[in-house]
Amino acid sequence: MEIIEGIYKRKSIRKFKNEPVKREDIIECLKAACQAPSPKHQQNWHFVVIQNKELIAQIAKVVEERHQEIAACAEDEKVQEKFMKLMKYYTLFKNAPVLVVVYAKPYFMIEEKILKSNKAKQEIIEALKSTQSAAQAIGAAVENFLLTAMQLGYGTCYMTGPAHAKKEVENLIGTVSEEYELMSMIAMGVPVEELPAKPERLELEQVVDFID
Ligand SMILES: Cc1cc2nc3c(=O)[nH]c(=O)nc-3n(C[C@H](O)[C@H](O)[C@H](O)COP(=O)(O)O)c2cc1C
Repeated sequence: MEIIEGIYKRKSIRKFKNEPVKREDIIECLKAACQAPSPKHQQNWHFVVIQNKELIAQIAKVVEERHQEIAACAEDEKVQEKFMKLMKYYTLFKNAPVLVVVYAKPYFMIEEKILKSNKAKQEIIEALKSTQSAAQAIGAAVENFLLTAMQLGYGTCYMTGPAHAKKEVENLIGTVSEEYELMSMIAMGVPVEELPAKPERLELEQVVDFID
């Protein structure tokens, strides 16, 4: 499949068949993820691949509990209800045969070090950090993963929603190391036949300006 064709065809898949995913295919996706650009080539990502059904179910349970906890914080019942309706978007991975947990290491910026040690204004340091370069690299890596998975016949969903339970998730799966932070998850599996259409995109004119 051509790259451009793949980009247009990819859509988020939230329902999976009860079929296994080959380890070699997961590795192919991970290799593609690692081909992504990263700031100063720091390759600040780490992936934890979970195929243990019981563990995936436990993770979904802690995410569900945290979701309920957050809903309960809302005083307005309608807001509570609305948030609870979103639960399926946070726990969709519970029926996926593969869950990839994606971590990022902070992006080390020499500029920040220079500015800090020379007592630069906090606002200059903040401007530098506002690009969230570490997270941007994760986005690039995940997109490579998703596109490769699709080419291999799998469906995926990129998720940050469940990260609201990152502590609880890490209690279950352990931490990579202290410097790594859980950023997102990828649900992966063979997609069911009946799938909703890919959502429409904004018109290019709404999101693009040309300066000649
Ligand atoms: C950073 C990021 C986080 C996302 N988190 C979730 C999520 O937690 N749950 C979910 O169901 N979809 C999640 N999505 C998928 C988006 O909802 C989806 O990409 C968007 O609606 C466009 O649909 P498409 O992927 O089918 O083109 C996320 C996507 C991105 C890029």
